[in-house]
This record gives sequence, C-alpha cells and structure tokens, in this order.
Amino acid sequence: MKAEEYHIKQYESVYRSTEKFVDWLEVSGYLGVDMPQRICDIACGGGANLAYLSRRYKNSRFTGIDISHPLICYGAEKLKGEVNCELYQGDWFHLDTKWRDQFDGIISFQTLSWLSEYHEPLRQLAELNPKWIAISSLFYKGDIEYSITLKNYYRVSNGKEYEKQYYNIYSLIRVRKHLETLGYREFHFIPFEIDIDLPKPESMDVGTYTIKTEENKRLQISAALMMPWYFIVASK
Ligand SMILES: C[S@@+](CC[C@H](N)C(=O)[O-])C[C@H]1O[C@@H](n2cnc3c(N)ncnc32)[C@H](O)[C@@H]1O
Repeated sequence: MKAEEYHIKQYESVYRSTEKFVDWLEVSGYLGVDMPQRICDIACGGGANLAYLSRRYKNSRFTGIDISHPLICYGAEKLKGEVNCELYQGDWFHLDTKWRDQFDGIISFQTLSWLSEYHEPLRQLAELNPKWIAISSLFYKGDIEYSITLKNYYRVSNGKEYEKQYYNIYSLIRVRKHLETLGYREFHFIPFEIDIDLPKPESMDVGTYTIKTEENKRLQISAALMMPWYFIVASK
C-alpha cells in the first residue's frame, strides 16, 4: 500500500488497531463519552483517526498536528463540518509552546517507531503538560532496543533511489523510565493482539498482514519483520 492510500483507506474503514486502542483507553478511564476533554492527536496524518474520535466522543475537542502540509490540507477538507476538530501543521520535534496547557490528553497512533528516536519526542509532549500521553507503536517488554532503518526501494521519492524509513522497537522498560523522569509516573501497557485476519499484500512492500501460529494466535508481519505492537499510556 502506498503512503497516500494508507491515509485514504482509513476514512473508508477504521483500522482495527485504532478501535482496539481507543477501547482500551476508554476501559482504562482515559477516554469517555461523558468526559469532555481537549485531546491532541500528534502525527495525525490525514486525520482519519480524528474523524473516528470526534464522532465517538462528541463532548470532547480534538486537535490534530502533523508535519505534512499535504496531509493537513487533505484532512482539513475531509473534516470540514466536524465542529469539534481542527488540524495544524507542526513538527513533533519542535512543538510550538502555544500548545502548552491546551490538552488534557495526547494520543499518537502508529508513529513513534517511525521516528529516529523517542527521547526528544516524548520530552516535547511532556513540555505541553497534558494529564496523559497514549501511544501505539512497536515495543519490547524487555531491556533491549532495536534501531531499525529500512532502505525501501519500492518507495522512490524526490529522485532518490530509495526512501529511508524507521521501524524502531523501543524497550518498554526504558520508555517507562524516560516518562517517569518527565513526571509521568503512572504507566500501563498492553500488547495489541489482533482479532481479525489481515490479508497479505500482493506487493512485497511494507504493510501489515497476519499469519496464524499452530496455537491459532495471529502474528502481525510487515515485509521482513514481525510487528510487536503495543498500546501504552502514561499519566501524572
Ligand atoms: C505512519 S503515519 C501515521 C499517521 C496517523 N497517526 C495514523 O495512524 O493514521 C506517520 C505520520 O507521522 C507524520 N510525521 C512524521 N514525522 C513527523 C514529525 N516530526 N512531526 C509530526 N508529524 C510527523 C507523517 O507525516 C505521517 O502522517
């Protein structure tokens, strides 16, 4: 699936991972229909998750921030008429201080592992002083971190031979410690175990699909990698 399709497809059908992540945050008491909150979706892409959240939590207000100007424009067009949603262009590594004290919670879907590292991005979020920070990404329960960089020759852009992509896997132990030092002492996590089959893409490009083990558990695969998806949430 090409990068643009990833954002468009989500408007047609919300990803299972989004539904499950949001369900988990609701069960854990961070989101609720009767809990009016100001929520930021950082690295919101084309805004499909904002559309989902704003319809599910009509009493809350949502702000999406993404570095990509074309995606922000695409999202603004799609979200026209949604009264509780706004989109802005911004860089997660250099967030504007005007956002400080503006959000009760910050969510990020499937992006942290696609950044070069997590220390500065999490510090930037903590600087905005939300009550809670929730992230879905690739994590390992133990004290090992994987720095994974792809040269993706399927994705050529700006005349380059390949697109460089990160698929980093961060240690839950290290991420938790870092969040603690930033003042977020309460920490919860859960592996995302998918309950539907995702078909294998025809192309050998990246894109998550599932295979079943002998014990009937689903493993999520993307190109050469197994995807250890987790949901995490940290609060003050
Ligand atoms: C894998 S997509 C996920 C998009 C969206 N969260 C979702 O789940 O559909 C990663 C997104 O991160 C954005 N992004 C990458 N680097 C960023 C940065 N430094 N600041 C803000 N957004 C960034 C990209 O433009 C892209 O929309």
